[in-house]
Parts: sequence; C-alpha cells; structure tokens
Amino acid sequence: MLYDWSREYTKRADTLKQIYYNHVMSVKKIVFANQKGGVGKTTSTANLGAYLAEFGQKVLLIDLDPQGNLTSAVGIDDEIPGIYEALSGKIEIKKTIQSTSVEGLYAIGSNINLTGINVELVDAYRREFYLDKQLKRLEDEWDYIFIDCPPSLGLLTLNGLVAANYSIIPLQCEYFALEGLSMLVRTIMSVKKQLNPDLEIMGIVFTMYDQRTRLAKDVVQDVSDYFADKVFNSLIPRNVRLSEAPSHGLPINLYDPFCSGAKGYLELAKEVLKRG
Ligand SMILES: Nc1ncnc2c1ncn2[C@@H]1O[C@H](COP(=O)(O)OP(=O)(O)OP(=O)(O)O)[C@@H](O)[C@H]1O
Ligand SMILES: [Mg+2]
Repeated sequence: MLYDWSREYTKRADTLKQIYYNHVMSVKKIVFANQKGGVGKTTSTANLGAYLAEFGQKVLLIDLDPQGNLTSAVGIDDEIPGIYEALSGKIEIKKTIQSTSVEGLYAIGSNINLTGINVELVDAYRREFYLDKQLKRLEDEWDYIFIDCPPSLGLLTLNGLVAANYSIIPLQCEYFALEGLSMLVRTIMSVKKQLNPDLEIMGIVFTMYDQRTRLAKDVVQDVSDYFADKVFNSLIPRNVRLSEAPSHGLPINLYDPFCSGAKGYLELAKEVLKRG
C-alpha cells in the first residue's frame, strides 16, 4: 500500500500548530488590580517586572492608570505617545514601547490624557476588549506583560482584566483590605464567566507588611485561611527605600538591591516564575 503522505502532512501541520500555540500561549499577561488606592499595585508592577527581567525574561509593563505613576517609577517619558494613543487608535501600539534602565524591561506609558478614554469609548462596540485587541498585536514577542490598573473597577480596569490571563492582587495588611478583597474577587470571577474565561487569580501578595503589628499578622492569617495556596509566601515589608525609588525613576533592583523591600520582590519574582 502506498504511504499516505496526506496524513503525514496533516500530522506535521498539527505539530507545528501546537508549537506555535504553545509559544503564543506562553506569554503571561498579568494584571495588577485592586480598587483600593495606594495598596502597592504600581510598586509591585515595576519591581516584580524588573526582577523578572533580571532573570532573563522579556517583560513589557503597561501603565493603565491616568495618574502615570508606573511611567515615572520606571523613568520613561510621559510625553511620548503611550497607551492612550494606542487604545484610541492614534498610533500603532508597537510604536509606544519605550526601553527602561533595566535590560529586558520595557514599558508603555500613560498620562492624564488617558482619562479621556472613558468618554471616547462610552458607546464603542465591545469597549471592554480594546486593550485585549491591542495586546494580541504584540504579545508573542514577550515572556511577560504586566498591566498596572488605576484604583477603581471602571472601564480601564475592566480592559486590564479582559486582556490578561492572570491577576495578582496586592493587599495591604489592614482591616478594610478584607472588605475590598471580596468585592474584587467577585468582579474577577464575573469577568472570567462573562468576558474572559482565561483569567485566573495567580496570587495575593501582602504589601507594606509590618511584622511588629498584631493586625498585620491577623490579616495575613485570615486571608491565608480562606485563599490558601493563592497567597504568595513572600511578604513585601514596609520599606522606605521602595517609596524613594520612583522619584529616581529606578526600580528597586537598581536603586538599592540590598534593602529589605528588594529582597521581598526578588523572592516574589521567583514564586511568579514558578506559578506562571
Ligand atoms: N512596601 C512598601 N513600603 C513602603 N512604601 C511603599 C511600599 N509599597 C508602596 N509604597 C508606597 O506607598 C504608596 C502607594 O504605593 P503604590 O503607588 O504602589 O500603590 P498603588 O496601589 O499603585 O496606588 P494607586 O491606587 O494610587 O495607583 C507609594 O508612595 C509607594 O511608594
Ligand atoms: Mg498605582
């Protein structure tokens, strides 16, 4: 019987498709979300990104917050067209990528213009998918894409949750954090159900942890009892060096690699590498 070449070709095409699929799917798109303000979303996005880049990963940070804090934390120019211009179709997203002082770490900036997107997209068809659509144009070139959200559950955060395949929840060790957490988890679950079945919670990270206070220990215990292995083991301590670094436009691995905050994010980066 003659060898069935057509079957052989189909098999090879399937293998190639699988390799391509694995490669594309290997990009980890992580959204840093918490509607509560000042909990360490931006600090975590910048420093975790910097350590993953130090580990040889190609990392793209996206500042999805009109406050532009991530933009200044990694020292990129907020006058160069950024995520607002990309989302509103004024410029190709690839042209908004800027390099940072960390090798392998790149970023797309934002500024106050981004507030306009809420109005511009108010009647737009599938307005929750705008970021997702843009990321699909570049994601196969990256190992990690990090999205830093503003402190709300509005349209921008929704776009972040729809575009990502993982979420990391930074949580400050205080009583009100717990109340906000259940609302956030409900939102993530409803986005997963209705808009983005790929979305998983990668983990909850405690920030500004002060081991001297009883409350901090209790909050960590309560959340760990409920969320179990979703809680990262690394705790990010309260450390003034972490709050100084952004004013120099440097992630902590360049600003002060030996401080306790740097150690916290280094350990967290190792956990993220294992989980993602
Ligand atoms: N571990 C830490 N130790 C000390 N200061 C910290 C730590 N983490 C963050 N900060 C500081 O706390 C403030 C809030 O942090 P950050 O901007 O990362 O929070 P955020 O959740 O992104 O805030 P927003 O909701 O406004 O975007 C900043 O001034 C930051 O420098
Ligand atoms: Mg922020």
